[in-house]
Amino acid sequence: MGRKLLLDKVQIENIRFYDVYRREGGYRSVEKVLKTMSPLDVVEEVKTSGLRGRGGAGFPTGLKWSFLAKPEGIPRYLIVNADESEPGTFKDRYLMELLPHLLIEGMIVSAYALGSNCSYIYIRGEYSWIVDILEQAIAEAKNNGWLGKNILGSGFDCEIYVQRGAGAYICGEETALLESLEGKRGNPRIKPPFPAVKGLWDCPTVVNNVETIAAVVPIINEGAEEYAKIGIGKSTGTKLISACGNIINQGVFEIDMTISVEEFIFSDEYCGGIANNRKLKACIPGGSSVPILPANLLLKTTKGNQRMMTYESLAEGGFQSGSMMGSGGFIVLDDNQCVVKHTYTLARFYRHESCGQCSPCREGTGWMEKILHKIENGKGKQSDIDLLWDIQRKIDGNTICPFGEAAAWPVAAAIRHFRDEFEWHIDNPELCLQKNYGIANYAKPIEILV
Ligand SMILES: Cc1cc2nc3c(=O)[nH]c(=O)nc-3n(C[C@H](O)[C@H](O)[C@H](O)COP(=O)(O)O)c2cc1C
Ligand code: SF4
Repeated sequence: MGRKLLLDKVQIENIRFYDVYRREGGYRSVEKVLKTMSPLDVVEEVKTSGLRGRGGAGFPTGLKWSFLAKPEGIPRYLIVNADESEPGTFKDRYLMELLPHLLIEGMIVSAYALGSNCSYIYIRGEYSWIVDILEQAIAEAKNNGWLGKNILGSGFDCEIYVQRGAGAYICGEETALLESLEGKRGNPRIKPPFPAVKGLWDCPTVVNNVETIAAVVPIINEGAEEYAKIGIGKSTGTKLISACGNIINQGVFEIDMTISVEEFIFSDEYCGGIANNRKLKACIPGGSSVPILPANLLLKTTKGNQRMMTYESLAEGGFQSGSMMGSGGFIVLDDNQCVVKHTYTLARFYRHESCGQCSPCREGTGWMEKILHKIENGKGKQSDIDLLWDIQRKIDGNTICPFGEAAAWPVAAAIRHFRDEFEWHIDNPELCLQKNYGIANYAKPIEILV
């Protein structure tokens, strides 16, 4: 049984409510930092823990905090990114729904470290019931003296507000989020300047993921060195993974990242194996934006080592044979699934969600969707595969924000690893056009199955 730091108390009845959360040791980390640590001590502690951002990019959290500009006389902001609109990712929702006080506790400690007296949770618009849960928890925290002025007589003031988005995936990108929070259309900003220097209302701002901020609580309670002992290399601590697709146990799991991908998929403690006695065909290990991997590359690196669930191991081999941890949205495909159809579904999503500011992304996502639609409907040509490849290459690296890569990589990886399936699709248009065929008949039988 792996060590749990975030979800260790999730089974306790009514842990969502303040009295139970406090009885179980909640808010200890706030007492500890306000009574015994300076803000700089907290930043150093988070640095020592090796915590990396859990929102997708995996940037070291303590380092990011240390970049925050500190001019006197203007506010500094902490923003929690709870937009969570990446297909396949639902870990933050789980955490906020069941453990709202863990997030609030982590926010108070983080806000103290950053010198921020006003913090926001920017939450996906569709999570309306979680807004209610968070607002109730914030009110409870305030009534019990953990928010407001001069907390525990320390002189530190802290307020937390919840702001709902309007349902756009791009508003999860940190600068689009800031625009949206300022009441404007959620278009990403050109960087630099980075939010740490010029963020919300041009003030120094740190944007962190929900899970990142929640992880600050065990780091303070257990001590950074203890936290860093869990995991390996630059993948310290525990990680929440939302697992879905063709597995027996779908849900959110907290893992020690040293477990192998094979153990994660097949052991009863986690995914429990492939559902309906089918075989593992492929997996997208980090949310819809990261490269898909066929079963053999997913389980082992090209050096023949077992692939672990770490940031480094999932990425080993670069884009030729690796993928990414991303947002931890683990999407499993069995041998009944068609990669062409799957890629088309994602391309539709990215075309729909592009903000339209840069032409490679605005036009390219539309072209990719149209070509994949053609192939999926039995009207593709073999030359379309190279055309798709060419379009994704022209998007990748040529846009204002990383959404361009997020749209390009799924197409690139699908062609790289499943080109024969695209070719087979194009050579067998009658199968695509026969509406009575199930997905199984669309999926080309492949050899690499586990
Ligand atoms: C299109 C797009 C969507 C994103 N959505 C989210 C999101 O929903 N939640 C999140 O934490 N980060 C998201 N990110 C990453 C954020 O820009 C940012 O890197 C992150 O919030 C930083 O927090 P972290 O360092 O704690 O990971 C997204 C990035 C892009 C390009
Ligand atoms: S890459 Fe796409 S989503 Fe990002 S700014 Fe450009 S058009 Fe908008």
